[in-house]
Amino acid sequence: MRIDSLVLHNFRNYLCLKLSFDNHFNLFIGANGQGKTNLIEGINFLATGKSLRTRNEEELILWGKDNCSVSAKVGYSHRESSLQISLHAADRKKTYSVNGLMQKKRDFTGKLTTVIFTPDDLAIVKGAPGIRRKFIDDEISKVSPVYENEINRYQHVLRQRNYLLKTHRKKILGSDELIGWNEQLALLGAKIVSKRFSVIRRLSLLSRLAQRRLTKRTESLDINYHSSFMAQDQDYTDLPLLTELFLNNLSEKKEQEACLGQTLTGPHRDDFYFILNGRDARFFASQGQQRTLVLSLKIAELEFIKGETGEFPVLLFDDVFSELDEDRRNALLDVLDSRIQIFISGTEADKLGKIKASGKLFQVVGGEVK
Ligand SMILES: Nc1ncnc2c1ncn2[C@@H]1O[C@H](COP(=O)(O)OP(=O)(O)OP(=O)(O)O)[C@@H](O)[C@H]1O
Ligand SMILES: [Mg+2]
Repeated sequence: MRIDSLVLHNFRNYLCLKLSFDNHFNLFIGANGQGKTNLIEGINFLATGKSLRTRNEEELILWGKDNCSVSAKVGYSHRESSLQISLHAADRKKTYSVNGLMQKKRDFTGKLTTVIFTPDDLAIVKGAPGIRRKFIDDEISKVSPVYENEINRYQHVLRQRNYLLKTHRKKILGSDELIGWNEQLALLGAKIVSKRFSVIRRLSLLSRLAQRRLTKRTESLDINYHSSFMAQDQDYTDLPLLTELFLNNLSEKKEQEACLGQTLTGPHRDDFYFILNGRDARFFASQGQQRTLVLSLKIAELEFIKGETGEFPVLLFDDVFSELDEDRRNALLDVLDSRIQIFISGTEADKLGKIKASGKLFQVVGGEVK
C-alpha cells in the first residue's frame, strides 16, 4: 500500500498541512525541532490510533485547539480509500472513518499499516522486557484486532486478580472468586503465548535472512521466546497444554503471590532474546550491531505484514537512516522491494545518497513544509 496524499489538521505543530507523496521515496529534511517527527507520528497515528511518544493523547492537538485530525488517500494494488482519524479534547474520544463513513476501531485496523523505526527502537535489544513485550503485542495487533482484544482483556483480568491478591492476601487463596480469575487468566494467557510464539518463530526466520543480507553473511541471528511457565522444548501450539501448565504454575506460586500481592506468572512476565552469532545480543551486541539487528527485525516485520495482509506496509524511518554506515544503507536499499513506500526524516540531505536523487524531498521548517 502507499499514501498518495496526507492532510494534518491541528496536529502537533501543524495548523493545516496538505502533502502529496512519491510512490517510493519521501524525505523530510529540516533542523531540530521543526516538525519532522511530528509528520512521521501523524502517519503512524492514522495507522495505529496511537501516539508514538505519549499516552496523553491531548498532547497531539495543536496548542490552544480542541481537536485534531489526520486524513490520507491510501492506494492499494487495485483501489484507493480515504481514511481519517479525529481526536476530540473534550471527551478524549477518537473517531475513525473510511470514505466518509464512520467505522469501529477494529474495522479500521489494518486499512493503513506501518513499520516504524525510531532511535528509541534500539532499546528493543537491550532494554527492559516490557519494551520487547510491547513490540511484539503491537506487531500482532497491527494484523489481528482479535489479538489486540485478547491483550486488553488479559490486562483487565490481571488487574482484577492483582487487586484481589493485594487487598485480601492469603485470605483469598482457595476462594471461588480467585479460581474464576485464574481460569480466565490462563485461557487468555495461553492464547497470547501461543500466538506470540508462532509470530516470533516467523520473525526469527525472516530477520535471520535479512541480517545475512545486511551483513554480507557474516552475522547469523535467532530470536528465542521464553515463557514464564513453559520449558523451551514444550509444544507452544497446544492450547490445552498451555492452559494447564499456566494453571499449575499459578498454583505453585500462590503463597508467594499472596505475600507480594501480584501475579508472578503469565505472558506479562515473558520475554524474548536475540541471539547473534550464538551469543545473547543483550550482553554482547555493539551499537552498530544493535542497529543492524533492529533493522533486520523491521525488514522481517514488513515481510510478515505482507504475508498476513497481502499488502506491504508503509515504512517510516525517523532519524535512523543517516546513522547507518554507507554499506548498510546500500544493502538496505537493495533488500527493499520497489513496491514499498518509504518516509525518511533527517537533518541533512547529504547523507541520504542515492535516495535523494530518486525521491521527493520536503523541507520542514517550523510547522510548514516545502
Ligand atoms: N501539541 C503541540 N502543539 C504545538 N507544537 C507542538 C505540539 N507538540 C509538539 N510541538 C512542537 O513541535 C516541534 C517539532 O517537534 P518534532 O519532534 O517534530 O521536531 P523534529 O523536526 O523531529 O526535531 P529533531 O530533529 O530534534 O528530532 C517542537 O518544537 C515542539 O515544541
Ligand atoms: Mg525528530
